[in-house]
Amino acid sequence: MSRSAHPAGPRHADVLPEGHPSAPPADLNHLDRKVWASTVTRTADGVVTVGGVEVTRLAEEFGTPAYLLDETDFRERARAWRTAFGADADVFYAGKAFLSRAVVRWLHDEGLNLDVCSGGELTTALSAGMPADRIAFHGNNKSVEEIETAVRVGVGRIVLDSFQEIVRVAHIAQSLGKRQRVQIRITVGVEAHTHEFIATAHEDQKFGIPLAGGQAAEAVRRALQLDGLELVGIHSHIGSQIFDMSGFEVAAHRVVGLLKDVRDEHGVELPEIDLGGGLGIAYTSADDPREPHEIAKALTEIVSRECERAKLRTPRISVEPGRAIVGPTAFTLYEVGTIKPLDGLRTYVSVDGGMSDNIRTALYDAEYSVALVSRTSEAAPMLVRVVGKHCESGDIVVKDAFLPADLAPGDLIAVPATGAYCRSMASNYNHALRPPVVAVRDGEARVIVRRETEEDLLRLDVG
Ligand code: LLP
Repeated sequence: MSRSAHPAGPRHADVLPEGHPSAPPADLNHLDRKVWASTVTRTADGVVTVGGVEVTRLAEEFGTPAYLLDETDFRERARAWRTAFGADADVFYAGKAFLSRAVVRWLHDEGLNLDVCSGGELTTALSAGMPADRIAFHGNNKSVEEIETAVRVGVGRIVLDSFQEIVRVAHIAQSLGKRQRVQIRITVGVEAHTHEFIATAHEDQKFGIPLAGGQAAEAVRRALQLDGLELVGIHSHIGSQIFDMSGFEVAAHRVVGLLKDVRDEHGVELPEIDLGGGLGIAYTSADDPREPHEIAKALTEIVSRECERAKLRTPRISVEPGRAIVGPTAFTLYEVGTIKPLDGLRTYVSVDGGMSDNIRTALYDAEYSVALVSRTSEAAPMLVRVVGKHCESGDIVVKDAFLPADLAPGDLIAVPATGAYCRSMASNYNHALRPPVVAVRDGEARVIVRRETEEDLLRLDVG
């Protein structure tokens, strides 16, 4: 996950987790710009604001826990990616990170395209007015219904993930009297430096068609023969929360190698390369993510250089950032409940949410930061573990962090960088009600995804 190491097991309070600052931050009231959305600031009276609105007011109006999303920051990040890649490339926001109709409209405004990976995401995108030709449809096991819908509405591309799917999509397109634009997702054999569950370019896994053993070349051969398909390019996604650009470099090199082989064998120069998403963000002060313009420069240079070597026309590049756009734009606001100091170990701070609104810590050993946001404090730092209210000891939100020792029930604390893969992976475990997403901008807050209610739970329970 983040580059910081992952401490395991209980520790004595004076032993600091590896990879974390060797001492508590000098000022616990300070908000590190790296991990907070761009409009987040602390006012003179100590209360934190986002988009010009105090978190105390937001808690009163919308309750806790809540995801507070800085719309200005989202738009700025989307625009930065769009501008960095310019008119000769496409940016597909990966909807799996977080998708709602408001987000679709912002993306549309800012000139981004959208990557969806299910019928549900496709429906959300279309219902908010994203033109179908700006949508890419992904997935390793798309259903026949999903493929039919995608072809019928005219999605810009379907990313083919298996030999069976090449035939399936071709047949469906043909039966609907269409020729579907497609890319083939390949696995280039790169071991991305990230958590095993979110690394996707090594060969022993469910996504894509391996380059190894000529399988990707065979997939191209088959796709080119089928009337229902217009093969426009090759896709590679090497994993997620990656900081090191060398994996992308190797991937680009190998994808261009395949384009060259395709040109040599078929006399066809495929016009597109998609290098996927996966760029890391700062979850703690220890992480140093790259800016979109650096990433764009690095990726376009690699592809141009490799194409020049292979004497190929440079294809149109596309990328699919999810986390890097939405991740830093939101934080989760919680109210502190029970505080339990464990002598010689650490203090457990329980909040009114937990693994149902952020499964990432339990699932990937992810690291997060936390701050007291309803007031400042000059009290000494205490080493805490922020935990949820679920019936499970692995229900941890922030493994190791410092909060002021005068923390009390009723205080508001916030966990930054929860915009990606938190609401989208939220669950109803223990019949928790999934929190709302509140977008804040220029002094105004509006709910873009409402809080679940007990009626919502009972509506599905039809026994
Ligand atoms: N494109 C493809 C084909 C993908 O599979 C993904 C993510 C992305 C783009 C966007 O990746 P991003 O830029 O957001 O890293 N639940 C995990 C992450 C799973 C990522 C799945 N695919 C997490 O919470 O870290």
